Amino acid sequence: MPTVHIEAQKGEIAKRVLMPGDPNRAKYIAKTYLENVKVANQLRAEYAFTGTYKGVEVTIFSSGMGIGSMGIYSYELFHDYDVETIIRIGTAGSYTEDLKLYDLLLADSAYSNTTFDEEAGVGNIDIINSSFELNSTILDTAYLKNMKIKTGRVHTTEAFYNENKDYSKYTKLGCMAVEMETYSLLYNAKKFMRKATALLTISDNLITHEEIDSKTREQKLDEMIVLALESIIKK
Ligand code: HPA
Repeated sequence: MPTVHIEAQKGEIAKRVLMPGDPNRAKYIAKTYLENVKVANQLRAEYAFTGTYKGVEVTIFSSGMGIGSMGIYSYELFHDYDVETIIRIGTAGSYTEDLKLYDLLLADSAYSNTTFDEEAGVGNIDIINSSFELNSTILDTAYLKNMKIKTGRVHTTEAFYNENKDYSKYTKLGCMAVEMETYSLLYNAKKFMRKATALLTISDNLITHEEIDSKTREQKLDEMIVLALESIIKK
């Protein structure tokens, strides 16, 4: 039962889905961590792979960039493929010196000033919570692995490039970091009453202008990927 954007048949997508933004990262995760991998989507080169991790079926599906792209894929995954759990895995820019490069941030909620909510029809919501249950599993898993992880609100922006460097508007609303996809994922999870969250690695700091180098980025993203995989198979 393919959709306009996803060519997979219904059984070809697992109930548990990890969503990196980048299709090449989806390919890398599937190749590195999954067994019995099958390609589930190649339309628009937003790759999806379904396989098993420690015997549990998982799909890795790239969301693309931005609220719009994540909005389409997460909608279709919940609505057309009956997906139950989605963890976004990605990067974010820090709004505070307390949240350092390489830190892991688990989104407990996302704020956005987007019109996505009005236009997608559930109503006007500025701040949407992640799944508390899913977050608890991720925090417990991180604890058992001795991994440090912070929890907080993210700002999901529509504009990566912006001339307004005054972030106090967002920090006053409790946002610790900025990224571009979590809001529409959580919105659709709320719409369909499913579980979703976002696990993010801080890749740059908007206050100090530091950025992580590409090699460390790979390694740190690997730790995040394993934490997400170990957590999602428990749900
Ligand atoms: N802005 C928006 N999205 C991001 C950023 C940023 O600085 N860093 C990582 N994702």
